[in-house]
Amino acid sequence: MCDVPQLLDNFRPLWVFPHFLVTFVTKDTPLMAIIYFDSRTGNVNRFVDNIKAKRPDFTTVRIEPDMTVKERGHLITYTDSDGEIPFTTYLFMERNWKFIESVSSSGNRNWGKTYGMAAKRISVGFGVPIALVFELSGLDSDVDAYISHVTKSEHIL
Ligand SMILES: Cc1cc2nc3c(=O)[nH]c(=O)nc-3n(C[C@H](O)[C@H](O)[C@H](O)COP(=O)(O)O)c2cc1C
Repeated sequence: MCDVPQLLDNFRPLWVFPHFLVTFVTKDTPLMAIIYFDSRTGNVNRFVDNIKAKRPDFTTVRIEPDMTVKERGHLITYTDSDGEIPFTTYLFMERNWKFIESVSSSGNRNWGKTYGMAAKRISVGFGVPIALVFELSGLDSDVDAYISHVTKSEHIL
């Protein structure tokens, strides 16, 4: 005769493990969000500070050219002359593009056609979706829109 409880017990690892995943990794589970950012004159830094004020649980990391990251995260940078990607950001992306989930850029509308173009150049060059383009250090509504984007893409509350 087949002993069903015994049989199930033998396969315990197979049914315990998926159960563990379903129990602990649901869409409501708060996971960590990381923001990597570049800033030269302080606008992006201020935008990131405003994010941090609303979401102290987000980790924010100022990038360096030779930095290698190990965790997925979102990039915020600014736009340099003629719509260029800042050099520090470019070197960072060359090394770490696989870990970057979205790109956002600060810019200034006074620059006309090249407004916020670093986001587009990074998106096309490295295959990363654009989250937001905002002016200078952003409005409160930009901060909210950005947080909303990150929380949705990370499945966190
Ligand atoms: C030399 C220089 C060139 C710039 N070129 C552009 C540009 O082409 N397009 C744009 O949208 N903003 C441009 N900007 C504006 C910056 O992207 C904007 O001020 C941004 O907020 C700077 O971010 P940061 O203060 O964090 O360095 C330029 C700013 C400077 C100083």
